[in-house]
Amino acid sequence: MRRMAQERTYVMLKPGVIQRRLVGEALGRIEAKGLKIIGLKLMQIPRSLAETHYGEHQGKPFFPDLISYITSGPVVAFVVSGESAISRVRMLAGATKAEEALPGTIRGDMAAVTTKNIIHASDSVESADREIGLFFQDQEIIDWQDPLEAWTV
Ligand code: PPS
Repeated sequence: MRRMAQERTYVMLKPGVIQRRLVGEALGRIEAKGLKIIGLKLMQIPRSLAETHYGEHQGKPFFPDLISYITSGPVVAFVVSGESAISRVRMLAGATKAEEALPGTIRGDMAAVTTKNIIHASDSVESADREIGLFFQDQEIIDWQDPLEAWTV
């Protein structure tokens, strides 16, 4: 049987999710899939960190709005691990544009406007490594032994 890659990915629930009391709902979908949370914290992101994180979008018309939204209140930052965790979390999140996100996805069910996009998830192994390193210290990540591994691997 072909085994998929064990991956780690960086996921962030944006300020609107906390304000709308949807943290449990969004996080629950990732947990229910069987992915493993190995890092988790509430964070007020400094502007400089936001600009570094979204550095590839610097100069795009939406960049100022993106930075001002992500720094407008606390976010829930977490690290998820599991087989093909990067693509699986992005599938659960759904398409970036609110009007394209399918029902059943986190964005499709909970986000009405792209400017107030509710979840960020790394899009590649390189991005995941970079973003986890930006938001988490090594000692904040606990790769715990999973007694239910038989259901998820
Ligand atoms: S691009 O140009 O295709 O690379 O951009 P995209 O991947 O669609 O989006 C990159 C991130 O910017 C957010 N975004 C916006 N924020 C505020 N306002 C507008 N108009 C806007 N358009 C895109 C989008 O949600 C992506 O953020 P993350 O955190 O990765 O979801």
